[in-house]
Amino acid sequence: MLPLTVLGIETSCDETAVAVVGEGREIRTNIVLSQLDEHAPYGGVVPEIAARAHLDHVDGLVRRALDEAGIGLGEIDAVAASAGPGLIGGLLVGTMAGKGIAWAAGKPYIAVNHLEAHALTARLSGDVLFPYLLLLVSGGHSQLLVCLGVGRFVQLGTTRDDAAGEAFDKAAKLLGLAQPGGPAIERAAQGGDSDRFSLPRPLKGRSGCDFSFSGLKTAVRERVEASSPLGPDDVADLAAAVERAVCEALVDRTANAVAWFVRHYPEGRTLVAAGGVAANTRLRSRLAALAAGAGLGFVAPPPALCTDNGAMIAWAGLERLRLGLTDGLDAPVRPRWPLDPQADSRKGSRR
Ligand code: KG4
Ligand code: ZN
Repeated sequence: MLPLTVLGIETSCDETAVAVVGEGREIRTNIVLSQLDEHAPYGGVVPEIAARAHLDHVDGLVRRALDEAGIGLGEIDAVAASAGPGLIGGLLVGTMAGKGIAWAAGKPYIAVNHLEAHALTARLSGDVLFPYLLLLVSGGHSQLLVCLGVGRFVQLGTTRDDAAGEAFDKAAKLLGLAQPGGPAIERAAQGGDSDRFSLPRPLKGRSGCDFSFSGLKTAVRERVEASSPLGPDDVADLAAAVERAVCEALVDRTANAVAWFVRHYPEGRTLVAAGGVAANTRLRSRLAALAAGAGLGFVAPPPALCTDNGAMIAWAGLERLRLGLTDGLDAPVRPRWPLDPQADSRKGSRR
């Protein structure tokens, strides 16, 4: 049998992205169109603007992706689209496009969970076997999960308030830096003194694997108000303090999860980081050290595959297609779609 090839469409937030990925893990094309400029005047993503921008661009990007990959629709084995969680307008645009193309080409359609796509990207970029421990940190989610297989996740912890990426984005706003805040803070922090401003490490030293970041945001606001107007050195030092505080909080919670994981899954070999925040260099090196200390390998996809992209959707579709997990054209979009639906009812019984 010929190796499989899948077209992937991502429209769950503010990136319109389309990719073609092959079963041999080759990314034949991966186009990401950011809507940053459209949302910039509003200081955050405006769902209605996002949906309209996806609608304007998705067809053209699919055409371009197929051209760049040098492949016709007839040679694609399935069409995968991000069906949730995310902003409903964008999800509707992407899944309708995916369904339309699948129907016209007579190929299977696959409704991909955006979080599962982040989770499985480590298997596109590297040789990672199940089970593995995953720190999933993006603009909307902060979770620690055990990945047992495709569609099989056990949640160990989640955020009680803001996501890690949100903490970066909100702090960047307070510091007058551009969005998305994570990369802006990482850049501004270079050369900054992370010791000058003390910031809290929410939940640090406590048991469990949950996160909390809202206290950090409040503390940043207070420091900014106390030091206003901020000069370039103040911004660099505050950015360095924010980056360090978020990373230390994430590593502290992940350390608890690692201890739990090696006890319960001794066959597990790997700590994986995924999602936009996993693009952060400081976080990656700290997680690598944590994993090494516990005898685990550490894998994080290259930064361009950590932030939202179409290749992760195509790859998750490919993993599903291989298992025969395709969807009907009546498959819904799911603005809320947890990876581990039983997590809430099990709360407290694990860790
Ligand atoms: O996964 P993603 O692209 O979109 C969501 O699914 O949310 O993640 C976006 C988030 C944003 O909050 C952004 O500030 C953060 O990831 N991010 C980073 C970095 N690059 C992106 N955070 C810290 N350091 C980075 N280098
Ligand atoms: Zn994402």
